[in-house]
Amino acid sequence: MTSSALPHPDPAALARDPRALADLLLAISNEAAARPADVRVVHAPGRVNLIGEHTDYNLGFVLPVAIDLGIAIALVPTADRRVELTLAATGETLGFNLDDLGPKRGAWIDYVAATAWALAERGLQTQGFRGVLASDLPQGSGLSSSAALELCSSLALSGGELPATDRMTLAQTAQRAENGYVGVNCGLMDQFASSLGRPGHALLLDCRSLEHRAIPMADPDLALVACHSGSPRKLETSAYNERRSQCEAAAAAILGGEPGEASLRDVTAAMLEEARPRLDPVVAARAEHIVHENGRVLAAVAAFEAGDLAEVGRLFGASHASMRDLFEISSPELDALVEIASGVDGVIGARLTGAGFGGCTINLVRRSAVPALREAVMRDYPARTGLAPRVLEVAASAGARRVL
Ligand code: GLA
Repeated sequence: MTSSALPHPDPAALARDPRALADLLLAISNEAAARPADVRVVHAPGRVNLIGEHTDYNLGFVLPVAIDLGIAIALVPTADRRVELTLAATGETLGFNLDDLGPKRGAWIDYVAATAWALAERGLQTQGFRGVLASDLPQGSGLSSSAALELCSSLALSGGELPATDRMTLAQTAQRAENGYVGVNCGLMDQFASSLGRPGHALLLDCRSLEHRAIPMADPDLALVACHSGSPRKLETSAYNERRSQCEAAAAAILGGEPGEASLRDVTAAMLEEARPRLDPVVAARAEHIVHENGRVLAAVAAFEAGDLAEVGRLFGASHASMRDLFEISSPELDALVEIASGVDGVIGARLTGAGFGGCTINLVRRSAVPALREAVMRDYPARTGLAPRVLEVAASAGARRVL
């Protein structure tokens, strides 16, 4: 590969323009230039979660939305077993051999290697490729760039097509990549959303039965707005894994068995109150969040379906308060974003979305109020935190697919 066309001045625009991304690959790769008819482009979306945070690995309910921001890879499949991928944003090229993945690098290519490892473990075929990657998901935003990279890699490693399996298995394979190779004990939500996303819909997932249902979000009067706090998510992995252990400890203390066997999905509010005197207060608080958050997801779906937006807003508020006070995954910055949004007329609900400890809030907003929200955040947030926010209107979009 040569790098004269790199770094690209506007990688976010490339992520939305498959033809331009394919042309960039043709310009930097001899293999692609020799076989232009074999160049293809695949795309996988990021996500926001409307409600149901940290409930996925407790086998409860989540309500994510795949969004119109994501990761695209232009690739030419090759007959060798070599994967070489270049980042449009920096020009950096990293690679590995599919038959000898080698050690982890502590770099973005680990997610691609992880996906290759998990596809092979599942008995799915993989193929080498030369590719170039562009993203319009803001980095470190908590909008699931990892899951988008895993899903996008799944298609790139399968010659630019969906692997020969169903989309739920594909999501589980990507989750396995992250758990088993990268070492983050995430649940299924992000990979599920990036795999099964549907335009105009949120997706209700029962993380135990894996039953799922698309919930229409097509009201033209409503907008989804993600506000990025701009604060780094430094302790995210260790704090995330700690929350997971605390939940497993709570389930074991209440239901019996070894940590990891029982799940908070089976704990009711009454069971929790009965057990509370025997529980460590922090562990009890974590369990209280999960038990009630599961109920809020189902209540929010019912409220969406009944058109009761006031109730949806109330549930968003209760969810954020619970994450702030009981699960302790908010931050002063995320609380400031929620408080600022809550003071804007036409904002129906606001809460942090994703793992927490930084990243984004999600806001359900009357379309006419989006400019006022943007203005309030751009004015008040820097003054309160000294940080620069980003306000991103997002739309519910399709899951991972070939786009060229
Ligand atoms: C991260 C994880 C998900 C989920 C959320 C919190 O995004 O990847 O599995 O646990 O945090 O809801």
